[in-house]
Amino acid sequence: MNVLLIGSGGREHAMAWKLAQSPLLDTLYCAPGNAGIAQVAECVALDISDHSQIIQFCRDNNVSFVIVGPEGPLVDGIVDALEAADISAFGPSAAAAQLEGSKGFTKDLCAEFDIPTAAYQRFNNAPKAKRYVREMGAPIVIKADGLAAGKGVIMAMSVEEALDAIDDCFEGAFGDAGYEVVVEEFLEGEEVSLFAFCDGQTALLMGTAQDHKRVGEGDTGPNTGGMGAYSPADVMDQAMIDEVMGDIIVPTLAGMHSRGMPFKGILFAGLMLTEDGPQLIEYNVRFGDPETQVILPRLKSDLLELMIASVENSLLEVEAEWSDETALTVVLASKGYPGSYEKGTEIRDLDKAEADNIEIFHAGTAENDGNLTAIGGRVLNITATGSSVSEAQADAYAAIKKIDWQNGFCRSDIGWRAVAREKE
Ligand code: AMP
Ligand code: GLY
Repeated sequence: MNVLLIGSGGREHAMAWKLAQSPLLDTLYCAPGNAGIAQVAECVALDISDHSQIIQFCRDNNVSFVIVGPEGPLVDGIVDALEAADISAFGPSAAAAQLEGSKGFTKDLCAEFDIPTAAYQRFNNAPKAKRYVREMGAPIVIKADGLAAGKGVIMAMSVEEALDAIDDCFEGAFGDAGYEVVVEEFLEGEEVSLFAFCDGQTALLMGTAQDHKRVGEGDTGPNTGGMGAYSPADVMDQAMIDEVMGDIIVPTLAGMHSRGMPFKGILFAGLMLTEDGPQLIEYNVRFGDPETQVILPRLKSDLLELMIASVENSLLEVEAEWSDETALTVVLASKGYPGSYEKGTEIRDLDKAEADNIEIFHAGTAENDGNLTAIGGRVLNITATGSSVSEAQADAYAAIKKIDWQNGFCRSDIGWRAVAREKE
């Protein structure tokens, strides 16, 4: 079959790399793609927010299956539009994508179905939200309800900071996303992510990972899209995984089904491992970036087959096989990220970093007159596999040393929590 993948990040390069290995695949297209994806797929310059353009491309090129990487098009209803045009698409409907598109929606679902999560209240005006914050005290978390590109969450360490954050939200700092605000209890613990394929009724565990969201060493400085990750998350044992599947993922699927909005696609649970057990911080309705870059290298089964089973409600009939190895990825970003950065700087010697246990997934790259250039904040993901986090970490950083990119930087401590545990 011909497949169209939508997106242009490291996540989509990892997906394209894995999809290209599928015996079910004829031609893989990617819109818009990047310089790395172009090595395994045919990149097409489509406007991914224009559903009719996507549908027309599928008709013209005999594409019968579409895979959506980022959340924006999912929340905008691209899967509904494709299905109405008789084109199968992997991912949730707009109704089901509310699990990521509206934090208030998810919190209400958790309350209704007894899913462990931080205590919360929803507000549509500042005075009431402020009264609640004064009652609860700090630390406290203020969240814009809608999609805000990862920026709509403020962890306020003082009441003053929380009150300012509430004003910012209602004054439009996050656009329409902040029209409604969720105020919630501050959870303490270690953060992990768990991913599951879903077909509306059944959830099939994909795996766990730990991201590094802050830009600085030791998890300091501003938040980014993610500076590196490893999988599996060693801090979760099988009993804890079973607990999350049973107490969080399964009731979510059942709840969504009973609401008439069955969830299909990837359910990505952001979790806090608190003293009282795992609690849901948030859902994403898609693969994680950079978590995908460490989960897919561990998948032995055919990704395309699993995705088709998710769309066709037949996950019970397939199995996913995973390697026991650990994968770790380090993000190389443009100097200045997550603030402003220079574009168009040249990257050399990428081929020198190649090795049997190294995969390099591109994010913000383009090819210019045969030269590889950086055009984004997060630019490359250097992924190593090994028998431990320490081993994969050492190999990833050894590969990075061979790359010549003057304007690039990375964190030097990706995997530090797991490496410390391995040393114990
Ligand atoms: P979210 O977009 O909801 O994942 O929030 C972004 C980040 O804020 C999360 O990855 C956590 O690090 C942090 N965060 C969100 N909610 C809470 C909470 N209730 N308690 C502590 N940290 C939180
Ligand atoms: N790595 C976090 C995310 O994909 O949202």
